[in-house]
Amino acid sequence: MAEEITEWPPPGLDTTVPSTARVYDAILGGRDNFKVDREAAEVFSRHIPQARECAEDNRTALVRGVEYLVRGAGVGQLLDVGCGLPTGKNTHEAAQDIDPGARVVYVDKDPMVLTHGRALLADNDTTTVVTADLLDPEGITDHPEIRSFLDFDRPIGLMIIGMIMQIPDGRRPDDLIARLMEPLPSGSHLFITAWPDTGEPAQHALSKACVETLGSGWCRPVDQIERHFNGMELVPPGLDYIARWFPEEPDRPVPEVEELPPHQRTQMAAIARKA
Ligand SMILES: C[S@@+](CC[C@H](N)C(=O)[O-])C[C@H]1O[C@@H](n2cnc3c(N)ncnc32)[C@H](O)[C@@H]1O
Repeated sequence: MAEEITEWPPPGLDTTVPSTARVYDAILGGRDNFKVDREAAEVFSRHIPQARECAEDNRTALVRGVEYLVRGAGVGQLLDVGCGLPTGKNTHEAAQDIDPGARVVYVDKDPMVLTHGRALLADNDTTTVVTADLLDPEGITDHPEIRSFLDFDRPIGLMIIGMIMQIPDGRRPDDLIARLMEPLPSGSHLFITAWPDTGEPAQHALSKACVETLGSGWCRPVDQIERHFNGMELVPPGLDYIARWFPEEPDRPVPEVEELPPHQRTQMAAIARKA
C-alpha cells in the first residue's frame, strides 16, 4: 500500500457525532463503531425494525452486481465510491473470487474507512483505498493514485452503493454521477442501489431514521432514480427491488412486487452500460 497509517484516531475522525459508515457498520452488527453510532442504529431499528435486513439486502445486491460486472460484463476494474467500512463479503473479494486480477479502488470520505481499508488490504496489490468526496467528482477521476491504479482506456465499473440517497437534490446527484462517468471509456458500467419513494410507509420510515440521525438520506421517486443513469442503457432486469434483481439471471422467476414485505420495497438496484 502507498501509505501506512500510524495515527489513531485518524485525523478528521469525530467520535461525538454519528458517521454513516460507522452507523451502517453498527446496523450490520459490526464492531467498528462508537456509542454514538450504536445509538443512531437504535433509532433506525425503532423507525424500521428490519433495518438490519435492509442493510443485509443491500450487501447481497452489491455482491450480485459485482459478480455480474466481472463475470457477466467482463469488467475487470471497479471504482467503489462510498464503499463504507469492510464487512461480510467486500467488493474486492467478490470480484477477485471470479477474476484474481480484478483491480478495485475503494473511495470514501470517512477517514476511518481509509484506516481500516489499508489494514485489510496490506497484502493485496490489486486493491487500494483512497479518501475522496463524491461532491467533487474530478477529485476522484483525476486523483493521482486512482489514475495510476486503474487504466482509464479500459472499461471501469463505477459503483455507488447505498449512498446516493445521502446526496441532497440541491447538489444535483445526476450531474455528479455524469461527471464521474464522463472520463470513463465506452463499455464502462454504472451500478447504483437507491431508496425508492412509491408512497410506502416503510420507505419513509427508513428515510426519516437516516435524516434524523445523519442529516441526510432521502427516498426518491423511481423516475428520479432512473435519471441517475441518463444516456446509458440499463442492463436487464433494469431498475428493480433488490429481492427481484438478479442481473446474471434476468429470466429467473421473481416474486410480484405486491408479495414483497414492506421492508423489501425500500431499496432498488440497477446497472447500466455506457455505449
Ligand atoms: C451506508 S454506507 C454504504 C457502504 C457500502 N457502499 C454498502 O452499500 O454496503 C455509505 C457510505 O458512503 C460514504 N459517503 C457518504 N457521502 C459520501 C460522499 N459525498 N463521498 C464519499 N463517500 C460518501 C459514507 O462515509 C459511508 O461509508
